[in-house]
Amino acid sequence: MAKITFFSAQPYDIQFFEQENIQHGFELDFFDVQLRSHTVQLAEGATVVCIFVNDHCHSGIIEKLAAQGVQLIALRCAGFNNVDLQAAAAHGMRVVRVPAYSPQAVAEHAVALLMTLNRKTHKAYNRVREQNFALNGLLGFDVYGKTVGVVGTGNIGQAFARIMLGFGCRVLAFDLVANQELTALGVEYTDLGYLFADSDIISLHCPLNDHTRHLINADSLGQMKKGVVLINTSRGGLVNSRDAINALKSGQLGALGIDVYEQEEKLFFRDLSSNIIQDDVIQRLMSFPNVLITAHQAFFTREALTQIAQTTLGNVQRFLEGQLHNEVRI
Ligand code: NAI
Repeated sequence: MAKITFFSAQPYDIQFFEQENIQHGFELDFFDVQLRSHTVQLAEGATVVCIFVNDHCHSGIIEKLAAQGVQLIALRCAGFNNVDLQAAAAHGMRVVRVPAYSPQAVAEHAVALLMTLNRKTHKAYNRVREQNFALNGLLGFDVYGKTVGVVGTGNIGQAFARIMLGFGCRVLAFDLVANQELTALGVEYTDLGYLFADSDIISLHCPLNDHTRHLINADSLGQMKKGVVLINTSRGGLVNSRDAINALKSGQLGALGIDVYEQEEKLFFRDLSSNIIQDDVIQRLMSFPNVLITAHQAFFTREALTQIAQTTLGNVQRFLEGQLHNEVRI
């Protein structure tokens, strides 16, 4: 029976994958460590490695995986920026992913970040628990009637745009390909410069690649409306964090909601509450009252975890039967 070695496995991964595996019967080997050069040997004897967003799959690691007999990299996520696809192809290793697992989960979390920052429910919760019923400092704005810019209208961006239309917003969008269904619903596709300049709220839903790395930087932040709200549930590398800090200090950036962070792999998915955090950039970001950070939890719903386990083990099953599904190619 084929063995699948899991890296970065959390208790909820084990729960959902073991449940789904009842109908496949694969040998599942779970490790909580990330895939790195010094952990790659844990995949010895596996046909498949199953990895998540912060596992490394650069050429050195792929070479070692191939030498150990691994034939398939099964990403249990949508993004694949952490895999060197050329190296995988060079070693005859195939790569599959879960292209869509409840895009609504991520879109709804983006809305949660926006609404929490706007209406300050996180502060109100603590205040009321301390019998502080004053409203000073909790002032928000009506989202209704605001202009929302959506960068990337794939599965998640599309779901987010639909929710914002439901709020009664004017929705602008930028993507390499316009989605005709969204256009029919009233979404206006524009160039990025216009979207930056005209939006009150901007939400990022494009992938991280060489074209989009640090899409949000001093220059693009400078093109935006003063006080703009920026939401990023996509990948941390889309935002230059130091430039965002400067824009927050000047008031150019009115609020920042992030579920992803460029250096998150050293922090996220762990309890570091007793540790001294060495990353001064995230410490500075956490110090702003108008910044809300969640630790890559946008996908974290029952529906999404069920879908991830189903699609991933389905991808492995198909691979073993010689028909690739959800393959990622160069
Ligand atoms: P998708 O592949 O369905 O859509 C991505 C869209 O971005 C496509 O329409 C594509 O044409 C567009 N795009 C590509 N390059 C672009 C550019 N330079 N500028 C503007 N648009 C561009 O992907 P999906 O499922 O919507 O996911 C989007 C991103 O969300 C993923 O790449 C992933 O990084 C992130 N994600 C985050 C999660 C979380 O828990 N925080 C969970 C799942 C995905």
